[in-house]
Amino acid sequence: MKKIMLVFGTRPEAIKMCPLVNELKSRPDQFLVSVCVTGQHREMLDQVLNVFNVLPDYDLNIMKSGQTLFDVTCNVLSRLKQIIEEDEPDVVLVHGDTTTSFAAALACFYLHIPIGHVEAGLRTNDLQSPWPEEFNRQAVDLIADYYFAPTETSRQNLLSEGKDPSKIWVTGNTGIDALQTTIRNDYVNEELDWACGSRLILITAHRRENLGEPMHHMFKAIRRVMEEHPDTKAIYPIHMNPKVREAAHAELDGFDRLRIIEPLEVLDFHNFMNASHLILTDSGGIQEEAPGLGKPVLVMRDTTERPEGIVAGTLKLVGTEEEPIYAEFSRLLADESEYQKMSKASNPYGDGTASKQIADILAQHN
Ligand code: UD1
Ligand code: UDP
Repeated sequence: MKKIMLVFGTRPEAIKMCPLVNELKSRPDQFLVSVCVTGQHREMLDQVLNVFNVLPDYDLNIMKSGQTLFDVTCNVLSRLKQIIEEDEPDVVLVHGDTTTSFAAALACFYLHIPIGHVEAGLRTNDLQSPWPEEFNRQAVDLIADYYFAPTETSRQNLLSEGKDPSKIWVTGNTGIDALQTTIRNDYVNEELDWACGSRLILITAHRRENLGEPMHHMFKAIRRVMEEHPDTKAIYPIHMNPKVREAAHAELDGFDRLRIIEPLEVLDFHNFMNASHLILTDSGGIQEEAPGLGKPVLVMRDTTERPEGIVAGTLKLVGTEEEPIYAEFSRLLADESEYQKMSKASNPYGDGTASKQIADILAQHN
């Protein structure tokens, strides 16, 4: 019987780890599973735990408003020590590139506990973008013992860094597992009723390196384009970071074809994506989900660690300056053939069986 602990703390980690928690728990003859949430996010994390019916065994409850990277790193590292010492897992699974994941992996490294990295091998190779996530994911991969790479590209990134090939498995992304269960053809929502008859633009934004001036540029561009296209309406489920809210309200208030709403539960968000004409975002996970739904995404960042979606044609990097975002967003609304080119559904991030594959691998390997 293998003792597995999963540690995660933010919304996207939870969306991608809960399917794995439930897969591992469905095999009580193979695994003894414990879940530790750091609470790096609170409301946005709890929304996901509720949807997947995951009840954490441990909750570090660290979130505070305006938290710094020092706060998150120090609190996770110091509070996790005792929990790991008491729980004595055979392996700890962390996800992706958050500061929760980095600090949890470091705690395991200090305690000589094997680490499994879910969503290993993503790279921009620019430590400033996304910041601090590129550092976090490289640092976790430096000390991980199992690499669950979502794609062949991420496997190649790990191999080029000299990682042991026998410890790398290409499994697809567990985020796609969740997407398989959430899309409903009969989905209804009053926000979508409001947008009915218009082209729906879905917006999200939160990256730390975009806080401040870049975010103002992004919102200015979006408003300018939408003012010129009266057949569009936008819904923007806003991140809870107060700095994001400040910039969004400063630039977007008073424009009644754009609604800022509270963060959506994941089932709702996926169905909003499915109902949308196009998506503007700086999110990572949305870049993985949109290709499966055939929804064009303008990625408001300078780099992406998800080149598969660019190759598939669904994603386009538009940076964070006002003029390029204005130009690309305008073009995609006006140019039907460009829109059709970006709207082809494809599945570069797996077939929705990643959690099952990871569980099989964990059962077979010591
Ligand atoms: C974190 C991750 C980022 C991930 C993102 C997903 C790091 C450094 N960043 O960034 O990789 O893409 O989550 O959203 O790990 N807040 C709330 N309630 C919540 C969540 C956040 O009030 O449920 C507010 C708090 O004021 C908090 C702030 O948002 O201080 C920022 O949260 P934090 O986790 O530090 O950074 P994110 O930008 O969300
Ligand atoms: N998401 C959600 N509700 C929202 C916005 C996004 O459930 O209101 C989901 C989205 O489907 C994706 C994940 O949250 O699975 C992306 O999270 P986020 O953008 O916060 O983080 P990132 O992926 O950039 O790390």
